[in-house]
Amino acid sequence: ASGSAHAPDLKGLSLVVSAGPTREYLDPVRFISNPSSGKMGYAVAIEAQARGAAVTLVSGPVNLPNPAGIKLVKVESALEMHAAVLEAAQDAQIVVMTAAVADYRAATPKTEKEAKTAGEVSVHLTPNPDILAALGREKGGRVLIGFAMETHAGVERAALKAQRKNADFILLNYPTQQGTSFGGDDNQITLVRPNGSFEEWPRLSKREVAARLLNEALQVYMQHST
Ligand code: CTP
Ligand code: CA
Repeated sequence: ASGSAHAPDLKGLSLVVSAGPTREYLDPVRFISNPSSGKMGYAVAIEAQARGAAVTLVSGPVNLPNPAGIKLVKVESALEMHAAVLEAAQDAQIVVMTAAVADYRAATPKTEKEAKTAGEVSVHLTPNPDILAALGREKGGRVLIGFAMETHAGVERAALKAQRKNADFILLNYPTQQGTSFGGDDNQITLVRPNGSFEEWPRLSKREVAARLLNEALQVYMQHST
């Protein structure tokens, strides 16, 4: 089964989804980034739109077609993503952070390309703002969902992240599974709540993961608003 395009159960809701990597430029032609494909976030955006939500997709640089009927805001850096997500989240009830936000950026990016030298160089990096944590500090009635990729102690680390960022749940996945996570079409997810309780999902397509994620988000939303 792919999405549930027939059920407009998200009608009247506004949703913000972040997707893809960010690029942190060291100089005009070089950047730090990661292999995020954006597929998971685009699947969430498309599934939510199909179910009647008004969707803003804040996307880092990816090789995916612009989805029809979705407001697409293209960004590059974490700072740009931070500004775009916080603005779009103002009138949203659900925010899903699938983006692989770079944790650091160059403290002082060079304005010109510099020639290489023979010796070693070092780069001074400064932390980027945590977008999900910023949303969590002014949560209001919003449902906040994060993703985490961990190599070890996944459930414990994801639960701590959900607590620290005030997220309703985090979808955890591992970078090592064949055909899942970065760039793949499938995902193997464990849903982790801030209290440490968790639920293992079977291996699913990213569209099916999106559908389940939205079912959970809607449930949390309805609990908040009753
Ligand atoms: N996130 C974010 N802003 C950041 C970093 C992460 O909003 N600057 C979000 C991600 O989009 C994701 C969640 O936080 O939904 C968890 O990301 P992750 O990188 O696992 O968490 P970090 O707090 O950055 O921890 P780590 O040290 O493990 O990278
Ligand atoms: Ca991180």
